[in-house]
Amino acid sequence: MPLDEYQSANRDNWNDRVPIHLNSDEYAVQKFIDDPKHISEVVQFDLDRNELGDVAGKSLLHLQCHIGHDTLSWARQGAEVTGVDFSEPAIEACKNLSAKSSTPGEFVVADVYDSPNVLPDRQFDIVYTGVGAICWLPDIKRWAKVVAGFLKPGGTFYILEGHPMMWAVSDEDHGDKIVLDWPYFESAGPQGYEETTTYAGAGTIEHTKQYNFTHGLGETINALIQAGLVIDFVHEHKVVHWQANPTMVPAGNGLWKMPDGKEDFLPLMHSIKAHKPE
Ligand SMILES: C[S@@+](CC[C@H](N)C(=O)[O-])C[C@H]1O[C@@H](n2cnc3c(N)ncnc32)[C@H](O)[C@@H]1O
Repeated sequence: MPLDEYQSANRDNWNDRVPIHLNSDEYAVQKFIDDPKHISEVVQFDLDRNELGDVAGKSLLHLQCHIGHDTLSWARQGAEVTGVDFSEPAIEACKNLSAKSSTPGEFVVADVYDSPNVLPDRQFDIVYTGVGAICWLPDIKRWAKVVAGFLKPGGTFYILEGHPMMWAVSDEDHGDKIVLDWPYFESAGPQGYEETTTYAGAGTIEHTKQYNFTHGLGETINALIQAGLVIDFVHEHKVVHWQANPTMVPAGNGLWKMPDGKEDFLPLMHSIKAHKPE
């Protein structure tokens, strides 16, 4: 199947998820509108650990911004934000959320790989992405070149993302065993599957077919290095924002962890900070 057919199936699937996510407790869109201090759980995770650092007054590009709650959370920290996503309904939702919450942001429809053509001659202080983002992208080296191209000299790249080892683990209950069901490396190609529901909210998806692409941690790090970035840190986290496996237990603040005694067995998320040399 040609790559653009995978992308097109994924876009149809994401378009269907937008109205469901807009009405979900997890995305808490109304809370974001009603409470000007409200910050998404994903951005709060970074703030609590001072991962990205101070964004005030900086231009920030969010690749794969979905319905904009993370993007606009960075705007509430003082960043001048631009969000890119290939789903038209998602970008429409971002614009609505920006207007209704009086939180400024620029939002554009574009495939990640085509975004340099849609935002020509633009560079940013920060390029940000993550949490269920790069698993939709077939080629991590090409993605890293897009990231590097969008950064100003001296600019910062930051990603918080599901750990590729966590993605490789079976999402079914195997008692106290951790079972691998999915490939770890990118070379294994896309994993196609069908789901009528989504991870947030209640509702049925019409376009059920979707394709994920795995990227090993080394593949992602080396792609960033080869694109000219300097790695500042790679953190592996023992918590994640969703129950990726039935054995996982709540860890507070909307996070999940492996059960007692198994916390050190599996990395659940990773974050990478890098910069473009001056
Ligand atoms: C899980 S969201 C990630 C954003 C954020 N972490 C969140 O949870 O809302 C994944 C987003 O990637 C977008 N996406 C998937 N493939 C894409 C592509 N090739 N180009 C641009 N956006 C893409 C989808 O439309 C979706 O909004």
